[in-house]
Amino acid sequence: MFVQRLAERSSAFYASVVALTLLPIYLVSYQYQLYHSYGATGTTAPLTLSFANFQETWLSVQTIPFEASAVAEYCSRTEWHPNLVFNLAEGAAEDVADLRSNILDFLFYAIEAGASVVLPSIAGAPTQHNSSDIVADKSAFGTMFDQDWFFASMAEACPQMAIYTPEEDHKMADALPGVYVPSSRRMDMDLGRTKKAYLDNLDAWLKEKPQFQPDQLTLVNVERTRWQVDTRNMPQRLRRNLGQVLRTATESRRLAAVAVQELASRFATHIDPRMVVPKNAFYGAQLHTLGGPASQPYSNFSAQANAYLAEAIKHKLKIIYVASDNASELALFKIRAATHPLPLIAVSKFDLLPADEIEALGKMTATQQALVDFEVMKRSSMFGGAVKSSFSYSVALARNQWLADQGKMNDPWFAVHQDVGVVYDDGISRILGRDEVLEQQIPRGMWP
Ligand SMILES: *[C@@H]1O[C@H](CO)[C@@H](O)[C@H](O)[C@H]1NC(C)=O
Ligand SMILES: *[C@@H]1O[C@H](CO)[C@@H](O)[C@H](O)[C@H]1NC(C)=O
Ligand SMILES: *[C@@H]1O[C@H](CO)[C@@H](O)[C@H](O)[C@H]1NC(C)=O
Repeated sequence: MFVQRLAERSSAFYASVVALTLLPIYLVSYQYQLYHSYGATGTTAPLTLSFANFQETWLSVQTIPFEASAVAEYCSRTEWHPNLVFNLAEGAAEDVADLRSNILDFLFYAIEAGASVVLPSIAGAPTQHNSSDIVADKSAFGTMFDQDWFFASMAEACPQMAIYTPEEDHKMADALPGVYVPSSRRMDMDLGRTKKAYLDNLDAWLKEKPQFQPDQLTLVNVERTRWQVDTRNMPQRLRRNLGQVLRTATESRRLAAVAVQELASRFATHIDPRMVVPKNAFYGAQLHTLGGPASQPYSNFSAQANAYLAEAIKHKLKIIYVASDNASELALFKIRAATHPLPLIAVSKFDLLPADEIEALGKMTATQQALVDFEVMKRSSMFGGAVKSSFSYSVALARNQWLADQGKMNDPWFAVHQDVGVVYDDGISRILGRDEVLEQQIPRGMWP
């Protein structure tokens, strides 16, 4: 059934390959027009032109372009078991960073086990996870991620793995009783956490079930995990590319492009939409405070806000794109920027999006809205985040991979020795605060 599905997909897949092949040609001609506007004596022509295709161009750029071969190499090292199917038992948590971490850990565990998967659902979507009937809301994945891209990229990178999309109310198969908790692959914490140790653990779990018949379809409910793989101990190219099968859903990305274009046009700031990290454009600030008095560095609003403003000034950025879960802190931050002795302007997506787009935004869940910030922040000139926010780490680690791709890697952890209370600074992203547990868990365990 899966093979048939895949065959149906292939025409769309080839169409996207053709589109991708055409893209560089389009970009080259666009770039040519931009810099060689014949006969134009005025200087305004290039600017107008750059705005005409701004969103399209901005959207055509990925922070970390996907290379399927890197994942394919790892998939080919696995012994595949076509009868074994993993289901992410509770779905992925509804949170920008956890969504990615839950699904990517799950995919990694499936790859190492040679298992196929049920398309992961999102927690909160109607999914009965502790019954033996798997009833996933198959649209849920697509509300957060580009589902066509996920299928196309996985089919190319890991054709051995089938991805099942159960129909609603369609009983797929009985899952084995219980939920399997995969053993950690954090080899940085314990050298014994090898692939073999994990597979032995899975094998033992399966064999202890009387219902387990290796020659029959075996559905395993797998507990969701995050940061349970020492990604830095993986082949570098696998670490770089696995996360790229998850691309933010089109609607959230589109609103991000609108917001960035609005920012550029309203404040007459030049933003080159072809750039992942545009120079001298805007500062991205993720406010994440603990609320109430906190003695930990940069954990209260004042300390965090002042630090972001100081950073923006240091990098000569007068526009700050700010995001926060807390609406009153968002408002406070804007006032603080406006009343600063140096002219600074702080704006959020709510200020930038035109009325009809605000309406579109209003129909989204909080996580889909946060994905808009995620996409904008990844492509800020400078980014500032907080240690307690896994969102901040998601942004910083994606940007850090981009930096590494440019051959401009510098040690983000040096900041710990240089600046009190700062955990991370790689020159384009800075994370404020200290947290013993998260510092150890996230930077090695999160897939960029
Ligand atoms: C889940 O399991 C609990 C007890 O194990 C049970 O009370 C509950 O009804 C189950 N929920 C569903 C949706 O099956
Ligand atoms: C929002 O921020 C204000 C001001 O810092 C704080 O008093 C309040 O507790 C915060 N609310 C939440 C839900 O964190
Ligand atoms: C906020 O945190 C800073 C240290 O980062 C501290 O000096 C200051 O006293 C704190 N303010 C409040 C109100 O807790």
